[in-house]
Amino acid sequence: MKTKITEMFGIEHPIIQGGMHFVGFAEMAAAVSNAGGLGIITGLTLRTADALANEIRRCREMTDKPFGVNLTFLPVLSAPDYPGYIRAIIEGGIKVVETAGNNPQKWLPALHEAGIKVIHKCTSVRHSLKAEAIGCDAVSVDGFECGGHPGEDDVPNFILLPRAAEELKIPFVASGGMADGRSLVAALALGAEGINMGTRFIATREAPVHENVKQAIVAASELDTRLVMRPLRNTERVLRNDAVDRLLEKERTLGSNLKFEDIVAEVAGVYPRIMQEGAMDAGAWSCGMVAGLIHDIPSVKELIDRIMGEAEAIIRDRLAGLVAA
Ligand SMILES: Cc1cc2nc3c(=O)[nH]c(=O)nc-3n(C[C@H](O)[C@H](O)[C@H](O)COP(=O)(O)O)c2cc1C
Repeated sequence: MKTKITEMFGIEHPIIQGGMHFVGFAEMAAAVSNAGGLGIITGLTLRTADALANEIRRCREMTDKPFGVNLTFLPVLSAPDYPGYIRAIIEGGIKVVETAGNNPQKWLPALHEAGIKVIHKCTSVRHSLKAEAIGCDAVSVDGFECGGHPGEDDVPNFILLPRAAEELKIPFVASGGMADGRSLVAALALGAEGINMGTRFIATREAPVHENVKQAIVAASELDTRLVMRPLRNTERVLRNDAVDRLLEKERTLGSNLKFEDIVAEVAGVYPRIMQEGAMDAGAWSCGMVAGLIHDIPSVKELIDRIMGEAEAIIRDRLAGLVAA
């Protein structure tokens, strides 16, 4: 399937694996790229710029297809070594960067000069237009259903995507709630040029996370996520567990007095314990409502081939049949 996104990124299928903390290692990115999608290494999971450079080298040994790097710009005082990460990306020969969080404007000239395409992840039309205005090449439009940070507007993809299509000139992919061929066809119908998936890619054989994480996603329904940190205006959609229940109880009792310090135990530094040790109640971890549509743990190639096969069958058999004379 050819779309503006497959053309822009030089990939076979319009399917991107979004950056995921402690999931987006070289093994994940290479598996997605080898299957014809765009795999993405999560920059900030690698502690230093040197570690990111090394991860890019490792990924290059596992695939000769294009892959990208996610850089999440956090609203924190002690910023990570962003100049170092940018250098590692450029010197590593990366051609696609997925940015997220704060405005990436400052870094665009260096990335563009190196021939790198930038896709910025946005949770609103307003931010998507801003990304277009500052010169991003594409956007990933992340609806309210998404795993991770859905922003504060709470607009689901059935509204957000066509609204983005009404306003944007640059291409965009649909992110949040995407799982299968039906999602892909719906996303294309709503104006997107492809899909970005997070949660679905965690429940694959190659995802470099503990088996407990994959099983938790398969066991979860669409009713099992919760929004945390809303009082801090840093809303995150996570899978419900004991730590999340504790966190929500603190939010209820402290109300507008809640500070980040109050919930450190539930949110800070918990990813390695969950993703690597499989300690499923160690803290809050991002997970999308799409868990309700995830029932198996295929290989990444099986998953991507299945999505493309389903999408083509829906378009050719069902949709074309509906309009046939
Ligand atoms: C476990 C997990 C960790 C994530 N970490 C990041 C991250 O570090 N940076 C980022 O930009 N997005 C992150 N995301 C968001 C994904 O890139 C993607 O936008 C989101 O998962 C899409 O929604 P879906 O889960 O419904 O597919 C994360 C998502 C998950 C599930």
